[in-house]
Amino acid sequence: MNTPRLFSGIQPSGMIHLGNYLGAIKQWLELVKKYDSIFCIVDLHALTVRQKPEELRRNTIELAKIYLALGLDFQKSTIFVQSQVPQHADLAWILNTITKLPELERMTQFKDKSLVHKENINAGLFIYPVLMAADILLYDTAVVPVGEDQKQHVELARVLARRFNENFGETFVVPECLVQKQGARIMGLDDPLKKMSKSAASSFNFIALTDDTKTVEKKIARAVTDSGRDVVSGQDKPALTNLLTIYSLLTNQTIAQSEKEFVGQGYADFKKSLAQEINKFLQPIQKKISAFDNKAVLKILSDGQVRAQKLAEKKIKEVREKVGLI
Ligand code: AMP
Ligand code: TRP
Repeated sequence: MNTPRLFSGIQPSGMIHLGNYLGAIKQWLELVKKYDSIFCIVDLHALTVRQKPEELRRNTIELAKIYLALGLDFQKSTIFVQSQVPQHADLAWILNTITKLPELERMTQFKDKSLVHKENINAGLFIYPVLMAADILLYDTAVVPVGEDQKQHVELARVLARRFNENFGETFVVPECLVQKQGARIMGLDDPLKKMSKSAASSFNFIALTDDTKTVEKKIARAVTDSGRDVVSGQDKPALTNLLTIYSLLTNQTIAQSEKEFVGQGYADFKKSLAQEINKFLQPIQKKISAFDNKAVLKILSDGQVRAQKLAEKKIKEVREKVGLI
């Protein structure tokens, strides 16, 4: 039997933050051992919000460097750029024709992004989840490890796979969404009721993987806390729960263990240790990122493109035949 396939992706739209790492990439590093894994840099999705062309190009290569620096092995898995495999857009078009408008209208990410980017509510933003379904279905994907905010999109991919199979005969694997129990939703440092996000108004919302030591210390010192003095989590303590989650994931221990570690200590002590742990995690990664050579990274991406395209071509050929394209 073939090894089951894993597919996931991140948009190269600016910096990558601790939420992306703890919510998505950290679990990828475990799952690669069990799955034939494909990691995509979804630049076509990034285009749904306004991008500066030079920046998008730079961010695409930067994200590849981040994937590699975090430990994704380009020999054991496939790393490639979405737009370099045109079958993604081909399949998205065909899937558009079996997607119902209300299915897209209820997408919470579309509603949220429409509020943030009022000046540019474009058709691409609306059909974004269909392109994501195409990404997933093109590769007979069994599992899609993502943060919680993407669950609704993966659910649509499942619906479209089933609908296509019913209409045109067995073609697509129905993928499973994998969301971790802890870390699936890292919250903003400045507002623990909203998720950590690169589109946040203030940079005090997130820790970017490229933040330097001083910036991390400043951001953690400024992070919102809850009333009280003890370093404990709980439903009435959203800020501390979030900070303790980050600390626990970085130190590979449970929240209960972290709480125990800080018994008798105040918020200031805890924040100091948290900033230290974050910096301990970030420093070697930043060193690796800056050591990569652009040419070498481009070569890795072009090898990835060749591998991905082979699989994508086979699937799109089958789809074209089934829907009646000559
Ligand atoms: P994006 O930056 O929107 O391309 O997201 C890339 C991956 O990171 C997706 O799997 C998201 O679900 C995940 N992610 C983004 N923000 C967070 C967050 N605040 N907490 C947990 N996971 C997140
Ligand atoms: N929409 C995802 C996000 O913003 C990124 C993405 C695009 C993706 N295509 C995908 C994730 C396919 C998993 C599988 O996080």
